[in-house]
This record gives sequence, C-alpha cells and structure tokens, in this order.
Amino acid sequence: TEAPTKIAVTGAAGQICYSLLFRIASGALLGDRPIELRLLEITPALKALEGVVMELDDCAFGNVVNIEIGDDPTKVFDGVNMAMLVGAMPRKAGMERGDLLSANGAIFTAQGRALNEVAADDVKVLVTGNPANTNALIAMRNAPDIPAERFNALTRLDHNRALSQLAAKLGVPVTELSNMTIWGNHSATQYPDLFNAKVGGRSAAEAVGDQDWLENTFIPTVAKRGAAIIEARGLSSAASAANATVEHMRDWALGTPAGDWVSMAVPSDGSYGVPEGLISSFPCTVTDGRYEIVQGLDINEFSRAKIDASVAELVDERNAVTELGLI
Ligand code: NAI
Repeated sequence: TEAPTKIAVTGAAGQICYSLLFRIASGALLGDRPIELRLLEITPALKALEGVVMELDDCAFGNVVNIEIGDDPTKVFDGVNMAMLVGAMPRKAGMERGDLLSANGAIFTAQGRALNEVAADDVKVLVTGNPANTNALIAMRNAPDIPAERFNALTRLDHNRALSQLAAKLGVPVTELSNMTIWGNHSATQYPDLFNAKVGGRSAAEAVGDQDWLENTFIPTVAKRGAAIIEARGLSSAASAANATVEHMRDWALGTPAGDWVSMAVPSDGSYGVPEGLISSFPCTVTDGRYEIVQGLDINEFSRAKIDASVAELVDERNAVTELGLI
C-alpha cells in the first residue's frame, strides 16, 4: 500500500482550520491518496483541538490514515511532506507593526528551525498566517537546509477574489477567465493585474475597457476584501482562506492546467525586477511538483508603478525583521 503523505497544519483549532482540515481530509487536496494529519497548536488550544479531531473522526474519511496533535513543532513536523502554516499572532488593538512582526517572528523562527531539523526532504511549506509573505521569509531564512523555493506564501485568496470580481463585472462565468495575476505582497498594496488576465483569450483590461473601474473600483475592492468580510461577518475570512490554501498546495503538488497560471508568493529570483530572495507574488506554472515564474509578460507603466509600490513594502518588512534579528 501507498505510504501516507504527512501533512502538518498549524493553528489547527482556529477558524480557517475548522474548514481547511475537513477539505484536506475529504480529498480536496490529494484526491484518494492516503494522508496523515499532524496538527500543531499552542498548549491552551489543545483541548479545543481534541474536539476538532473528534469531529474529523466522526466524518470517517476513508483516506485519513492517522491524526496526531501536539504543541511541539519538532514532534509534529517530524517527517512531514507538506506544512501549511496557518497559525499566527493576530494584530490586537494598540499593537504596533513592530510588535506584530516580533510576535510572529518568534513563531516562524521556531517553526522554520523545527522544519529544518525534522521535515521530510521533499517538504513543501505554505504560509497563510499573516503577515504571510514576511512570515514565510522568516521561516525560510531559519531553515537553511531546505531549498528556499520550498517556502511559499498565500496570495491565492486574492487571486480568487480578483477572478470573482472580474467575472461579475463582465457578466461571464469564472470559467471563461484565465491568466489572473496578483503581484507583490498579500496586503492592501497587492496588485491584481487585468492587463495580462484573459477573458475568452483576449486581454481582460481591454474587455473591461474602463480604466476608471479598474483603478478605482476593481483594485481597491480586491485589496480591501478582507476588511469588507470582517465588517459583514464580524470575523475574518475563513472558509475562502481555507479554500485558497487547499488550491495553492494542490496546484503546487499536482500541477497547473495547460495554458493557465496561478498566483503564488515565492522567493524571487530577480524576475520582473523584484529583489532576489523576497517572497513576492508572481504568475506561476507548476509541472512535476516544481513551479516556475512565468517569464516575458508585458508590464506597462501603470502595472510597473503598482508592482514597485508593493515590492517596496516587502523590502520595508524585510528590513524591519532584519533589524529585529529574526533573519
Ligand atoms: P484564528 O485566530 O481563528 O486561529 C489561529 C490559531 O493559531 C489559534 O487557534 C491559535 O491558538 C493558533 N496559534 C497561534 N500561535 C500558534 C503557534 N505558535 N503554533 C500553532 N498554532 C498557533 O485565526 P484564523 O482566522 O484561523 O486565521 C489564521 C491566520 O491566517 C491569521 O494570521 C490571519 O490573518 C491569516 N489569514 C490569511 C489570509 C491569506 O490570504 N493569506 C486570509 C485570511 C486569514
């Protein structure tokens, strides 16, 4: 029988995971392949996590071979092939950006080191917990024995939000759309690119034909969607974040469809003028479990300025965590 794929998930008693774990276990990630879940939480949340595991048990999912929980990353990450780092320290009232970066820095330095020590050789690490790009950078830099390209951050939710807004504007199903790209940081500075996106094979920006909508409605709606969900629901996006986390990891493992690409925040190789080593969102294709940044796309003046602004924010965040001694 096939050896199970070992999948670590952190923040496992939190709200994203209340959706994510059930999607993974039901086969949305790897189909019928056997899986073992390794769930990490902080000590006070272990009891709640036991309740989540009881519910997973009660689904009697056929491909879940084993579930282990714990609060020690060096045990939970032992031999894992995939790590979805969802747990993070949320921003609380009165918290400065530096406080948020150091609180998360402590989490992602420890988890990076633990992965470095005990994860399987083929481990793929995807960071959803915010600030996702910089948390991924911290984990990557604290795991020197794992190839840097195995550390990604999630911008797939932004990508999906952009597809949904564009489909609504054009009155077409999302299946008509392709080649969407989110560039830069998973933050309000992110740049959803309609110039390279396509609808029925033609440029989406051309099909929309409304630069004012693109600039003043589309981009801010996508970038501020997280805040709009909090405003409406009283809680941050969880099911859609879980869906995006599954889709990113699934495509990274199983590949992207021919003729299309997806948005993935990956360590830059200098493509499109993004400084090497920054974890920034790019258009990516995946074959045989390896992604490549799509090359040669046309970047107009408008796009250039937007990408540069988001990348400048990533540089600032990198400088801040460097000063804090986290990388
Ligand atoms: P939540 O607060 O409901 O759950 C987070 C869980 O992480 C808690 O159960 C907490 O105990 C746990 N945790 C904290 N420190 C931990 C550690 N060191 N090890 C293991 N677990 C730890 O938060 P929610 O809604 O599930 O969101 C999780 C993160 O995802 C947040 O940082 C949020 O901002 C981020 N997020 C990212 C999105 C993206 O598109 N990249 C979209 C939506 C949310």
